[in-house]
Amino acid sequence: MKLSRELINNLIDVTSNSAIACFPYIGKNEKILADKAATDVMRDKLNKLNINGEIVIGEGELDEAPMLYIGEKLGNEAGPDIDIAVDPVEGTNFVAKNLPGAMTVLAVSKKGNLFNAPETYMEKIAAGNHIPKDTIDLDFSVEKNIKNYSRATDKKPNEITVCILDRPRHKKIISELNRLNVNIKYISDGDISGALLVSDKKFGVDIFMGTGGGPEGVIAAAALDNLNCKFQGRFLFNTNENITRAKKMGINDLNKKYEINEIVKGESIFCATGITSSELMNGVLKKDDRFITETIVAYNKSTLKLVKKEISIT
Ligand code: FBP
Repeated sequence: MKLSRELINNLIDVTSNSAIACFPYIGKNEKILADKAATDVMRDKLNKLNINGEIVIGEGELDEAPMLYIGEKLGNEAGPDIDIAVDPVEGTNFVAKNLPGAMTVLAVSKKGNLFNAPETYMEKIAAGNHIPKDTIDLDFSVEKNIKNYSRATDKKPNEITVCILDRPRHKKIISELNRLNVNIKYISDGDISGALLVSDKKFGVDIFMGTGGGPEGVIAAAALDNLNCKFQGRFLFNTNENITRAKKMGINDLNKKYEINEIVKGESIFCATGITSSELMNGVLKKDDRFITETIVAYNKSTLKLVKKEISIT
């Protein structure tokens, strides 16, 4: 089975409409309402598609999320069997405060090909497609990663930029990067976008590293796999609840380092529509009787595509 052009167009329509649903909440300090609006529309639209879909990454488990919960079946069953990972609002703080970088995101693969990620943190490292395999690795020290990258690209450490979430947990990594005189691009949220910045030299980010959401890691991996970039992830299970959940999901080696193709196998499609603008795409714009959206799409081992859509206000 091939993931068809029709499916790609339909998914762009899903994320575009979901982003539009958030539009009234931009800058309203209403994270939960914004998330609910995007989630409702995403679910409704996915349910109308010719797919036999199942949520593998969603808004939570059945007992905690009435919509887009893990295991929820979506679509009219008249199409391919697919796994769906959704993040209806990536960067809920950005929507609440009208800051750059909020987007509505999903990734799909054929059934069984997307990692079923637990709601826990993941250590991540990513870089572009221009470096040899094994240049960067989660098991290397920060210094070794920077030295290897420097050697592979002929860039001095002070010409290398690392993107990282601005969090106290990253104090050690950040002080190492400072010591090595590496440039840091701090992000306050939104590490799917952070990871995607390694995909094109125009974004000026060489390496993405640090710990963020596990589900976001899987979705970023789907995008980066299509863009032939490097990515590794390792889940962090630091509570008993997390460990029990992981075991229930069939994860026995809790310290395993996952290579990108263990997280996403075979073909996949990644779509993200801007809610507020960022380096990757513009946010939703309202013009006269229509909304204008921009969606980045990655599929079929190619480059990131930007798709603009105009949708009439009904
Ligand atoms: P939300 O959109 O769900 O608020 O998540 C934003 C985010 O920044 C993710 O991009 C990132 O993976 C995660 O939160 C980091 O979690 P924390 O804020 O706990 O460090």
